[in-house]
Amino acid sequence: RLRVLTGITPSGSPHLGNYVGAIRPAVRASRSPDTECFYFLADYHALIKNHDPVRLQRSTLEIAASWMACGLSPEHVAFYRQSDVPQVQELTWLLTCVTGKGLLNRAHAYKAAMDKNAAAGADPDADVTAGLFMYPVLMAADILIFNANRVPVGRDQIQHIEMARDMASSFNHLYGELFALPEAVIDDNVATLPGLDGRKMSKSYDNTIPLFVPRAQLHKLINGIKTDSLPPGAPKSTEGSALFELYQAFATPEETAAFGQAFADGIAWGDAKQALFERVDREIAPMRERYDALMADPSQVEAALLLGAQKVQPMAQDLLIRARAAVGLKPLT
Ligand code: TYM
Repeated sequence: RLRVLTGITPSGSPHLGNYVGAIRPAVRASRSPDTECFYFLADYHALIKNHDPVRLQRSTLEIAASWMACGLSPEHVAFYRQSDVPQVQELTWLLTCVTGKGLLNRAHAYKAAMDKNAAAGADPDADVTAGLFMYPVLMAADILIFNANRVPVGRDQIQHIEMARDMASSFNHLYGELFALPEAVIDDNVATLPGLDGRKMSKSYDNTIPLFVPRAQLHKLINGIKTDSLPPGAPKSTEGSALFELYQAFATPEETAAFGQAFADGIAWGDAKQALFERVDREIAPMRERYDALMADPSQVEAALLLGAQKVQPMAQDLLIRARAAVGLKPLT
């Protein structure tokens, strides 16, 4: 059976980009009988940017409740916290030692942080932790410890998955075939979901639409999406329109085509925003109710994560035993 795996970093509340880029395709994949799914909260990754323990726990709960509210069934998939699988850390080290430093130098997130410092006239290394530098190796270990074949993600994660493939091949080449080579799975309707200002929706740009805000607030946020100042009646281009791309991420191809026609026919921006709000809310509303119920009684969430930890630990341990044997470390006693 195909193994599908993906994770979300608990760094704040989940937003529509996380939903369409990862949660929705992952929940859909979990309904296919030919897949075995591993979905997790990347809390080790969260430590790279978050040094507030209370926020980390809060965000972990929010993201876990979001997965469940979006229809993930903890009985049918392996749903767990990354830090409940400490074997990931040991595998990270084994992979670190077959990974070229030059490969990590090229990682987008690390490069962007260095460039930002340099542009501000500071030491490029200023606030860059070794954790940020090592990020892609930890992520490769997440994937390889369960020999996942498919990784549903947004476009911003493709480079990381390619790096995981590189690390898997280096290891296999040196020590014999142990790892499957993972592939990214990208939803073509989504690519990269834009945020309120048209740039990629991202917590670091402060332009997100949180997945589970109250209905009125969702409406208000959508009304705040940036558009040009073309008046009602003037034909509008769908090209590069955040409003259009957001709609497309939620609609059927037929609905999207009709929306594109409305743009050509000069729909008023206010009406376009109303249509987007209604389309998004139609999909989200039932999940929002489940989310609010889970957050009111988080014991269900905790129980689901414990069940997940019990499922995955023996698998992780088994892979680690084989990896240790491959590199020549003494068997665990
Ligand atoms: P994270 O937490 O930044 O994002 C979680 C998922 O949401 C997707 N995403 C988007 N998709 C479309 N449009 C957007 N604007 C958008 N913003 C975020 C991301 O592509 C991602 O799929 N490193 C990962 C977590 C991780 C992981 C893994 C993922 C750790 N280990 C192993 C897959 C496999 C991250 O920080 O994603």
